[in-house]
Amino acid sequence: MAFTIKKICCIGAGYVGGPTMSVIAQQCPDIQITLVDMNAERIAAWNDPDLDQLPIYEPGLSAIVEEARGRNLFFSTDVEAAIEEADMIFISVNTPTKNYGKGKGMAADLKYIELCARQIAAVATSDKIVVEKSTLPVRTAAALKSILHNTGSAVNFHILSNPEFLAEGTAVQDLLNPDRVLIGGENKDAIQALVDIYSRWVDTDRILTTNLWSSELSKLTANAFLAQRVSSINSISELCEKTGADVQEVARAIGMDSRIGSKFLKASVGFGGSCFQKDILNLVYIARTYNLDEVADYWEQVILMNNHQKQRFADNIIQTLFNTVNGKKIAILGWAFKKDTNDTRESAAIYVADHLLNEQADIHVYDPKVPSEKVFVDLEYLNSRPAAETRRLVSVSEDPYEACKDAHAIAILTEWDEFKEYDWARIKRHMKSPSFIFDGRKLLDRVKLEEIGFIYYAIGE
Ligand code: UDX
Ligand code: UDX
Ligand code: ADP
Repeated sequence: MAFTIKKICCIGAGYVGGPTMSVIAQQCPDIQITLVDMNAERIAAWNDPDLDQLPIYEPGLSAIVEEARGRNLFFSTDVEAAIEEADMIFISVNTPTKNYGKGKGMAADLKYIELCARQIAAVATSDKIVVEKSTLPVRTAAALKSILHNTGSAVNFHILSNPEFLAEGTAVQDLLNPDRVLIGGENKDAIQALVDIYSRWVDTDRILTTNLWSSELSKLTANAFLAQRVSSINSISELCEKTGADVQEVARAIGMDSRIGSKFLKASVGFGGSCFQKDILNLVYIARTYNLDEVADYWEQVILMNNHQKQRFADNIIQTLFNTVNGKKIAILGWAFKKDTNDTRESAAIYVADHLLNEQADIHVYDPKVPSEKVFVDLEYLNSRPAAETRRLVSVSEDPYEACKDAHAIAILTEWDEFKEYDWARIKRHMKSPSFIFDGRKLLDRVKLEEIGFIYYAIGE
């Protein structure tokens, strides 16, 4: 039986659900799309007439929301009404790493997913296609299926896996022009219904269909491979610092081998984001569940290397500042986990700051898009010290020059373009001497900064 999709509901209006549904709404004006979230504040922000107030920052997103909102794109807290009306339901809720119980610190916490499944089962009165959009451990579809099919209602549910490959900061471009779209499922007609949506703007030879499990595993594997590249080049960066090689030169040299390729070889202070660490922890947890210790250990090393990179970056600052940062002002430029996003989940900046705070440093943070309260919440979540102490030791500045004034050192932790344009001579004039810059992103120009009088350290040089 072929499906006609007239109404879509997406549960979870976050970094994945928001941009994805906005682009589908833009491309399919005849389909009504309702994004629902239990977070009323978030929904209010999506509905705010002032597009600068949208809850997530993504280049190009506000224009698309402006075009589609109120036409065929709606934001609501009425989860049940939207589920009931929809022909197709995307689940795009968060699946954070568990911080309690079995699998603590490793497994994905599926409580939000399960809640969605139960809500769908309770409300649905007509057949639904349910699409997993969140990153999930392999075989989650089995759990979803079991909940949906054991509700006693006469409704048919078809489960599809359609993992999201967009990267934050480039979400709109990634959605409009994806390398591929992946759809896993069991029912041919349900798969076709989703293919028909994407094929309105994506070439059909870029739309892959697989079984449910391959689709689920591919998402984890893709992120594990990407993160592995970053950890691999970061491991080489440390060796470069000892041997006199330059990691950028090494990356260029190996990247020109077409079998290796040039992308994702930028040495950094460490990868962050909501996906890489969480997905690898997931892979490791699943491998261990099947007693694949070697597989688990292999992937776990990618995370250990990343932790080491953040730790050694902070250690280097402490050591260079004559083995003490106690009471010394250190400016952190960049708090987001990468440029062009206001997302800070698992950002390297959080961990670098935490190490420096252990040494009682006086931390001043500036980020162009991250609100100040988020900085405190991120640090408090680590539970390393009483909240009052964090608030005493950390300040967040609205102005980068203010953040750097009287500082002993500056740490660059996000590659925001605007940092390159600063008046570095002016910054130098107002800093303590000697004035150090620790560039965790290899963003700035060494020759220029050394001319100004900075002592400049960059990863892998
Ligand atoms: C399988 C086999 O059935 C069993 O005989 C074998 O001993 C172990 O692997 P199964 O429950 O089917 O067990 O595997 P799977 O569901 O893939 O994962 C195991 C458990 O870990 C499940 O409860 C799963 O929900 C959970 N899990 C896995 C998480 O909660 N989070 C994760 O990130 C990964
Ligand atoms: C990632 C995947 O790229 C995307 O396909 C998936 O859907 C979600 O996870 P995202 O986390 O948004 O996307 O960002 P990504 O661009 O992959 O960067 C992740 C982290 O790695 C960032 O902290 C980034 O700074 C770092 N990174 C990336 C490096 O340090 N060096 C690199 O060469 C590339
Ligand atoms: P992601 O990066 O995966 O999009 P986010 O945390 O940005 O993650 O977004 C997930 C959203 O899902 C959050 O806004 C959260 O409030 C919402 N959410 C989680 N569970 C439910 C639920 N059962 N019903 C409605 N919304 C939910």
